[in-house]
Amino acid sequence: MRILAIETSCDETGIALVEGTKEGRTLTFKTLKAALLSQAMLHSPYGGVYPNLAKREHEKNLPVLFEQFKDEQFDAVAVTHGPGLEPALWTGVEFAKKIAQERSVPLLATNHMEGHLISSLARRENNKFQITNIKLPVLALLISGGHTEFVLMKEWLRYEVVGKTLDDAVGEAFDKVARMLGLPYPGGPAISKIADTARSKSQKTNIKLPRPMLNSGTCDFSFSGLKTAALYALRGKNLTEAEKNGFAAEFEDAIADVMVSKTRKALWDSGAKTFVIGGGVAANRYIREQIEKMILDEFPDVELRLPALDITGDNAIMIAQAALARALSGKNDTADLDLRAVGNLSIAS
Ligand code: KG4
Ligand code: ZN
Repeated sequence: MRILAIETSCDETGIALVEGTKEGRTLTFKTLKAALLSQAMLHSPYGGVYPNLAKREHEKNLPVLFEQFKDEQFDAVAVTHGPGLEPALWTGVEFAKKIAQERSVPLLATNHMEGHLISSLARRENNKFQITNIKLPVLALLISGGHTEFVLMKEWLRYEVVGKTLDDAVGEAFDKVARMLGLPYPGGPAISKIADTARSKSQKTNIKLPRPMLNSGTCDFSFSGLKTAALYALRGKNLTEAEKNGFAAEFEDAIADVMVSKTRKALWDSGAKTFVIGGGVAANRYIREQIEKMILDEFPDVELRLPALDITGDNAIMIAQAALARALSGKNDTADLDLRAVGNLSIAS
């Protein structure tokens, strides 16, 4: 089965053509063609994504990208219809409807977070991605610019949210604190880079940041207090390069401490047999390492799946994979041409 997928939930315009096959309990995804245009540079002056600018850019980019796919054959069109920025989502949804109609193929509505989850669960085998022998329940930590949540999959492709942020997403905290430090958007990679420098050169700060909700007894998160603490700690100070690096390391440490501790609790509570991390922030090397270390030490029987670094950020390949996983498992409901974009769409149905 071949699916053409479209992703426009945030600041990446993506189109991908992916072929999926199923043999027994093994799903194999082969990317035939993928195109991605990032608007990150355009949004950089705003320190975050500016929804109407994103919408305009998607509208401009989609037809340009689609030129590369116009001679291709496919069995269905999948589109991200949420969660994300609604004006941005709508551009993809409308574009996908048009293609589905012109080609007389079904339209499939895909959840962006399921895209992150499925693509992170898949293992790369040469130029293919494979999902095989997944031991349930699967616990997923989905961390991105818009989300921070623990999702539990007890039954294949059925989800339950077992913990989430009560305010800001972790990627948002990275982006905002990066801005306070005068670093470019997206802030995650920028903070991570100077934090690594601080660790390798032993550059320390005497500023101590809070580890919010560490002892809340829940699997929920909160990052707005950490953001405010960073703001107060930096106010009126002129940090040297070394102090700035040290501060970034302390910030990343605070995030990693919270992630590790909440993951421990969520693993205990859920009895998950597989753990996976997905979303843009899953590219963070330090967070990956800290979680990996804890799982190897404390949950040696849990199978850990870390996504390939080139699939963590938003893209259409992950949307195609999620749609294919559903279609090949007989769990895909085709959408009508009155499909709507839903900004706050939940992964739990
Ligand atoms: O999943 P994603 O590409 O878009 C959303 O759906 O939000 O995630 C983007 C977020 C941004 O906040 C960005 O700063 C963050 O992921 N990010 C990182 C890293 N790479 C991207 N955060 C921390 N460390 C990184 N290496
Ligand atoms: Zn995302």
